[in-house]
Amino acid sequence: MEKVGVFAHLAEEIAREAGEMLVAKRPARPEVLATKSSPTDVVTELDKASEALIRSRIRAVRPDDAILGEEGGSTGGGRVRWIVDPIDGTVNFLYGLPEWAVSIAVEIDGEVVAGVVNVVPRGEVFTAAKGEGAWLAGQRLRCNTGVPLERALIATGFGYEVGRRTVQAEVLAQVVPRVRDIRRGGSAASDLCSVAAGRVDGYYERGPQAWDYAAGGLVATEAGAVIGGLNGRPASPDFTLCAAPALFEELHGLLAPLDPERDT
Ligand code: IPD
Repeated sequence: MEKVGVFAHLAEEIAREAGEMLVAKRPARPEVLATKSSPTDVVTELDKASEALIRSRIRAVRPDDAILGEEGGSTGGGRVRWIVDPIDGTVNFLYGLPEWAVSIAVEIDGEVVAGVVNVVPRGEVFTAAKGEGAWLAGQRLRCNTGVPLERALIATGFGYEVGRRTVQAEVLAQVVPRVRDIRRGGSAASDLCSVAAGRVDGYYERGPQAWDYAAGGLVATEAGAVIGGLNGRPASPDFTLCAAPALFEELHGLLAPLDPERDT
């Protein structure tokens, strides 16, 4: 099996190419091609085009690998799986807000070993390889440490499905009075890279999908953060939190009572 750096390098090349294509082809006013789980959950022509490009580049060099993509679902099998969000932050992309990313992670035997998040409008490409650190423009990233909950700036997101949004609003109501402030950037992958870069202190979301957090999660953990779910479970669409270890514990204490396992 190749070294993880080889996967990180390939993922970076592909994420950069997809970013260039998206900038070149983005019309002044992109159109919504379809909606998914709700009217706010949109897909543009370019989400599809970006995923098609990424899939074809992966297949050209790694024809036997599995691919999980936001738009195309799961294909293939094998020990290596690519997890792709062709545009994370599609609503921002639609409106021309400068916070969307191409996110590509590589998993071997179920463990993410390489992650790349190309925050295209900012020209920032975050990269991480398991055990080899997280990087931005040649600088090694370190998350903030020693920040207590009441002074923590926390990023969050809201999935699009209406029922989930109602619960997310309830969770938010518990968090807002306990922290310095909340940021809702609109791209989970970018939010996780912001944890890595110390631009926010932590991130939580009830409802992100693997393609939203796989690559950014590795960038954050390689920068010293912890990522996980509630009550000892791994990060998942149920709940994902990420912060330096002490703040992770504090956030966990606050959020554990909202565990979806208790919903029934
Ligand atoms: C969304 C963004 C958003 C998060 C949602 C995701 P998409 O991804 O990451 O920040 O709150 O849960 O679905 O749909 O733009 O790829």
